Amino acid sequence: MAERFYLLLLFLIFLVNLICFSSQQDLSFVFNGFNQDQAGDELLLDGFARIQSPERLLQLTDATTQQKGHAFFNRPFDFGSASSQSLSFFTHFVCALVPKPGVDGGHGIAFVLSSSNDLKKADPTQYLGLFNISTNGSPSSHVLAIELDTVQSAEFDDIDNNHVGIDVNSLQSVVSASASYYSDREGKNKNLTLLSGDPIQVWIDYEDTLLNVTLAPLRDQKPSKPLLSRTTNLTAIFPDRRAFLGFSAATGSLISNQYILGWSFSRSRVLLKSLDISKLSMVPLFTETKEIRSTLLIVLFVILALVVIMVLGGYYLYRRKKYAEVKEPWEKEYGPLRYSYESLYKATKGFNKDGRLGKGGFGEVYKGILPLVGDIAVKRLSHDAEQGMKQFVAEVVTMGSLQHKNLVPLLGYCRRKGELLLVSKYMEGGSVDQYLFYGDKPPLSWSQRLTILRDIASALCYLHTGASQVVLHRDIKASNVMLNENFQAFLGDFGMARFDDLGANLSATAAVGTIGYMALELISTGTSTKTDVYAFGAFMLEVTCGRRPFDPEMPVEKRHLVKWVCDCWRKGSLIDAIDTRLRDKFTPGEVEMVLKLGLLCTSIEPKSRPSMEQVVHYINSHQTLPDFSPDTPGIGVSTPMVMGIPGLAITSSSVTSSVSVPLVYPPSPNNSMFISHTIISGDGR
Ligand SMILES: *[C@@H]1O[C@H](CO)[C@@H](O)[C@H](O)[C@H]1NC(C)=O
Ligand SMILES: *[C@@H]1O[C@H](CO)[C@@H](O)[C@H](O)[C@H]1NC(C)=O
Ligand SMILES: *[C@@H]1O[C@H](CO)[C@@H](O)[C@H](O)[C@H]1NC(C)=O
Ligand SMILES: *[C@@H]1O[C@H](CO)[C@@H](O)[C@H](O)[C@H]1NC(C)=O
Repeated sequence: MAERFYLLLLFLIFLVNLICFSSQQDLSFVFNGFNQDQAGDELLLDGFARIQSPERLLQLTDATTQQKGHAFFNRPFDFGSASSQSLSFFTHFVCALVPKPGVDGGHGIAFVLSSSNDLKKADPTQYLGLFNISTNGSPSSHVLAIELDTVQSAEFDDIDNNHVGIDVNSLQSVVSASASYYSDREGKNKNLTLLSGDPIQVWIDYEDTLLNVTLAPLRDQKPSKPLLSRTTNLTAIFPDRRAFLGFSAATGSLISNQYILGWSFSRSRVLLKSLDISKLSMVPLFTETKEIRSTLLIVLFVILALVVIMVLGGYYLYRRKKYAEVKEPWEKEYGPLRYSYESLYKATKGFNKDGRLGKGGFGEVYKGILPLVGDIAVKRLSHDAEQGMKQFVAEVVTMGSLQHKNLVPLLGYCRRKGELLLVSKYMEGGSVDQYLFYGDKPPLSWSQRLTILRDIASALCYLHTGASQVVLHRDIKASNVMLNENFQAFLGDFGMARFDDLGANLSATAAVGTIGYMALELISTGTSTKTDVYAFGAFMLEVTCGRRPFDPEMPVEKRHLVKWVCDCWRKGSLIDAIDTRLRDKFTPGEVEMVLKLGLLCTSIEPKSRPSMEQVVHYINSHQTLPDFSPDTPGIGVSTPMVMGIPGLAITSSSVTSSVSVPLVYPPSPNNSMFISHTIISGDGR
């Protein structure tokens, strides 16, 4: 029984010994970087102290003022009951004190052995989170600290602002030295700047009451000589024979980011696990760098935003410029007739050359397609003069209100700087002159020609008498008469006689039109319905004879159509003047009537000319022509000869062709889409 008891006792003693021994041996750990799982469990953090997850750093303070942070290992270091001789510990850690660029940093980091793991009442600033004014210097503090101090505090007799010291219950270091390390390679001491932001290795060894502190830069081996070596009686500081291990750091008005990168501890030199430097997050990310980076990011973003804004703005301005229009308050009432430049631009595919119907002295005509409207012709007229534009647009708009089955419908307009665009319906058949003078269309039959003349006479009569105001066309000619697919004729085109008035290039603004169609009195009394009648007379002859009213390439006697037709009549063979392409397929009576009517309308004497109403009656054979002969005064006189008088060379400067006669406008095949008109008072009739 006693034996058994004795054995059990032995076993218990062994067990207790084993537990004691193992608990003492147990306190050996290594943090190769701090991850949330392991370090989070094993460290007691307070104050600012935190584990930075992705970086695997233990951050004790950031760069804000009056801060402190503590990190203690959660189990105390138990000195054990063994004799103080055998009391020893070894620790190795890597820290970094990162100053804010351009600012003096502070305050420092300390490795701490403290009987209490609660230093929350301690002060920041020069107290380093270790003491407060009442605990500093008190033996009851039970604190041993190895400080890495970056501020020189006169009250604690600090030697400089870059020193390492051993503190026992007081910030007045027992021993201190400027931060430096012994380079075994170079065989000499080298200064070290604590507040450089570079990681620093610190070894603290305690054995045989001797406490050694050794520093070195990150990549260096542990120097053979310590920076500080001091006999310290640990059991005198910690009578309880136990202490918590950890770090304390603080900022004051001087600030810096303070980190521990890795930490290894053991109570035995051989069991101390070496830190795997390669596993440490090398240089802690400077908040400053982050700031710089975020500032950079912000700057980049701002630049990007600016670029985007500029591009968008540029595009907007480009679009605005591209589609810019001129709008004035007085145009409001014409709103429905106003087209946007953008819609016209798109309708004509950017005024594509392929869609160009013609090019004339005043501008170009493009074919386009507008949704809902269908095929359109857009005439682009360049103009410089803003003066008179209001009246002109008013006239254009009035024109749009003219309704006649033989007028090319004007759909609307658009104004830009230096440009006016007129939109009308597109006519499938093209202009009459294409059938008369160009081989690209089949020749017209007599009945088609007569229909055309009747249509245009009717349209012109409407302009002179049918509308609310008298409207003058002022530029009747073959190229201004359009056909649809059924050979119905439409009077069209802004002959631009009126338009050019605005250009103010002409001194004799009244005398405009096309040579061969212009009555003589244009020079003296200006336009009237009678000048339109004259032009229509020339047009009748033109359509019947298939020849231009004035053709400089003809022999002299045939050059002036009016004169030549009259000569034919005088010779007794009026029918000879007819277009030879008609051969015999015509009604001689009708041809004679038309030719005679043409001659009557082109009488040099305005009073002798019939009105358009009468013309309509004659041409529809409702009324017989008055009696007159080729020798009746005023009949068969060619006006272009008269127009050639010097001083009346109206726009000779603007004529580019080599034609000898001072043409007012070079004949243009197909620029004719619109009606030129002038609204005049009743007495102009
Ligand atoms: C200093 O700290 C001690 C214990 O940590 C606390 O009891 C005391 O109140 C503190 N004194 C001041 C002035 O903060
Ligand atoms: C190293 O530091 C000490 C004390 O701060 C200073 O006197 C010495 O000039 C420094 N040496 C070098 C090489 O910077
Ligand atoms: C401390 O340093 C001295 C010499 O500088 C050395 O003799 C001693 O062994 C060192 N002690 C420890 C625990 O490293
Ligand atoms: C250390 O201090 C303790 C308690 O104050 C004392 O008993 C012991 O003798 C001291 N040891 C040395 C080596 O001074």
